[in-house]
Amino acid sequence: MISEIEKRIKEASSFKSKDPKEIEKFRLKFLGKKGHISYFFSEFKKVKESDKKSYGLAINELKKITIAKLEESKIKEISNGKTNSKFEDLTRPVSTFELGSRHPISIIRDKIIDIFYKIGFNISEGPEIEDDWHNFTALNLPEHHPARDMQDTFFIQSSPDILLRTHTSSVQVRYMEKNIPPIRTISPGRVYRNEAISSRSHCIFHQVEGLYIDDQVSFSSLKQIILYFTKALFGKSKIRFRPSYFPFTEPSAEVDIFWGLESETDYRITKGTGWLEIMGCGMVDPNVLSNCNIDPEKFSGYAFGIGIERIAMLLYQIDDIRLFFENDIRFLEQFKGKL
Ligand code: PHE
Repeated sequence: MISEIEKRIKEASSFKSKDPKEIEKFRLKFLGKKGHISYFFSEFKKVKESDKKSYGLAINELKKITIAKLEESKIKEISNGKTNSKFEDLTRPVSTFELGSRHPISIIRDKIIDIFYKIGFNISEGPEIEDDWHNFTALNLPEHHPARDMQDTFFIQSSPDILLRTHTSSVQVRYMEKNIPPIRTISPGRVYRNEAISSRSHCIFHQVEGLYIDDQVSFSSLKQIILYFTKALFGKSKIRFRPSYFPFTEPSAEVDIFWGLESETDYRITKGTGWLEIMGCGMVDPNVLSNCNIDPEKFSGYAFGIGIERIAMLLYQIDDIRLFFENDIRFLEQFKGKL
């Protein structure tokens, strides 16, 4: 028996080929299920007790040599391929590789995050599939509240408690439930609304929520931070606060930035006024604080919600919101290098 193994060891040691077919044949012959090695192993039990040790050693030797041969042949095969094709014509043009680009929504989101991160806001996130409590009820929007009409969304018929969040304000609630003041956080993310899709509105869009809760927060702190933000992002500081209504803030305001009317897109995006609404904001309603187990007698705070698409449209002069979601390479590759 051992002499048979030794014969195969000689055979394997003398194997030499660059031909992939030959190499595969060799592999099957020795290492295949019905190959020599597995046959020798299966015969192991028939070997005399005194010979078992040298028999085992011989098989292992055969296996080692076979594997080493296979590896050697493969390396030769590859390097052979290389010498033939790669260095054939050293003057030929190099093969280029395509550089991707970041999505404009991600670029603007990260700019906004950077601006707030610098002044001590941390970043938090919440789920896009929300429940009624976090998206509406805890935010002072109980069932049948008329303001729910402005934020219709997508529900599951069989379990209407589950919905796609209509705003990132739901993360305010989640964050306050888990943390104690002082709270300074921003929450970027995707939101959904049941809206007719047009060049100005879409059923998916993105927001960055901001929340600041501490023991002495006033409306003037809110105005100051928004001025800081608009200066940092746009380099412009002509803004106005319009009184508005959100059930979860009191008082509430909408912030417009004066952009000017230089291009046709400016006209279209600002409806010919030069002003563009960029966010909703206000002082967090005491009911919302209580709903999240924060004492409204001790703490107060402000919140704001910034629409990312609006800002990207303005900064990059994009006049159709649908372009963000079509994944058209011709659109996306214009943002190369805009990190
Ligand atoms: N969640 C509001 C919206 O989507 C924006 C907002 C956020 C308003 C925070 C006030 C405070 O319209």
